[in-house]
Amino acid sequence: MEKYVIIGVYNFERFEIMSNSRSNFSSKLGFVLATAGSAVGLGNIWRFPYLAAKHGGGMFLLTYLILVITFGFALACAEILIGRKTGQSAINAFSTLSKKWGFVGWFAALVPVIILPYYSVIGGWIFKYLFAFISGQATATADDGYFVDFIGKVGSPLGWFLLFIGITALIVLFGVEKGIEKASKIMMPVLVVLTLVIAVYSACMPGAWEGVLYYITPDFSHFSVTTVLAAMGQLFYSMSLAMGIMITYGSYMKKDVNVSSSVHQVEIFDTGIAFLAGLMVVPAVFSFSGGSEEALSKGPSLMFITLPKVFESMPGGTVIGIIFFLMVLFAALTSSISLMETVVSVVQDKFKLNRKITCLIVFAGSVILGIPSSLGNGIWANIKIFGFAFLDFFDFISNSVLMPIVALLTCIFIGYVIKPKTLIEEAEASAQFKEKKLFSVIIKYIAPICIILILGFSVLEAFGIVKV
Ligand code: PHE
Repeated sequence: MEKYVIIGVYNFERFEIMSNSRSNFSSKLGFVLATAGSAVGLGNIWRFPYLAAKHGGGMFLLTYLILVITFGFALACAEILIGRKTGQSAINAFSTLSKKWGFVGWFAALVPVIILPYYSVIGGWIFKYLFAFISGQATATADDGYFVDFIGKVGSPLGWFLLFIGITALIVLFGVEKGIEKASKIMMPVLVVLTLVIAVYSACMPGAWEGVLYYITPDFSHFSVTTVLAAMGQLFYSMSLAMGIMITYGSYMKKDVNVSSSVHQVEIFDTGIAFLAGLMVVPAVFSFSGGSEEALSKGPSLMFITLPKVFESMPGGTVIGIIFFLMVLFAALTSSISLMETVVSVVQDKFKLNRKITCLIVFAGSVILGIPSSLGNGIWANIKIFGFAFLDFFDFISNSVLMPIVALLTCIFIGYVIKPKTLIEEAEASAQFKEKKLFSVIIKYIAPICIILILGFSVLEAFGIVKV
């Protein structure tokens, strides 16, 4: 990554010349693949299905889809364009465009700092399951108590967490992300095919059809502000938005790449995998546990409890399970690398440290922050913050509080400070921006109003003032 000095606040031409020295994604395909590598991860495979199960199935899916094509599209374009225009990553991009707004970059940078540790705890769980399947314990994992028993321990989940974050840190430290990205170009398609196969199998299990219907038919009685907040947080999380990551990716994008069509491709890919993952998990819950409310609201553990049962009942399930967990591990690693890379580059830039030391500091800090998330499922289970266990608390604070705030500030910044026109011009430097009207309206009015309403209601609800 080349670095250069910012020499003026509104000096765009100069930036454009300089940004030529920044190493670029060689093509649109390169950009889309790299962005998809960051976007597709545990968010799609682990988080989306449990949220869909919990928040009313089809109602959640519909809300999510509407948000993807409106908010998701506008915000992804906005971030990429800010990055491409300034040639800077989040921290500097905002202050480059307007000195006073630099703090938004800082807010955004805080998000990956919170996500990385607990993301790695879950990455560790994936590792554990891969190992369990390889070492012939596939049947044991299908047992009802296996997962709860495992995450309730002290040493084992901590060990797998350390392994996951350790590998992430080594890859970032030795700068071998390229190798991982190459490997994930093979892994990703395998993951898609496998998810499809498992989803079809799962949907055909006895009693699963009811689950398919629950997953795809919106039942408006399930609609609440919490559903929208959950879907919005998930959208940001899954597309790696509202945390500065897309700004950084945009800063490496060439000027002749069509932004809106790249965003469409990433969205289709990301949402497609999440949809299939839901189809793989939700109907299976109905098949194995009858779709009771209790079974559906299992939260973060849902995938780990349900999928081993699916694999156990499948012919060749152990082998399929091994390949599946291996692919998911890769998808999780490409995402955790992108999270750690972001944190490292922020710390490195700000404190002018060398890269090795920075990697070590970020690694150590993430380990310390990750420990409560791991122990919170066992010996620290009775410690609650605002009623949340540690992992759920970090997840809530980043997804349902910080990211909506960053998104809101980003929209206000674009809508009223630099004006949508500035970014539309940037987009049109490469191709016609057909959705520019939609883009402006969402950024200026719809997104800010909706985010304020949703945040407002959820705060009131949290304090028990209204019931929504
Ligand atoms: N988008 C990733 C996922 O769905 C998570 C992630 C968030 C990755 C932020 C990088 C940055 O798993």
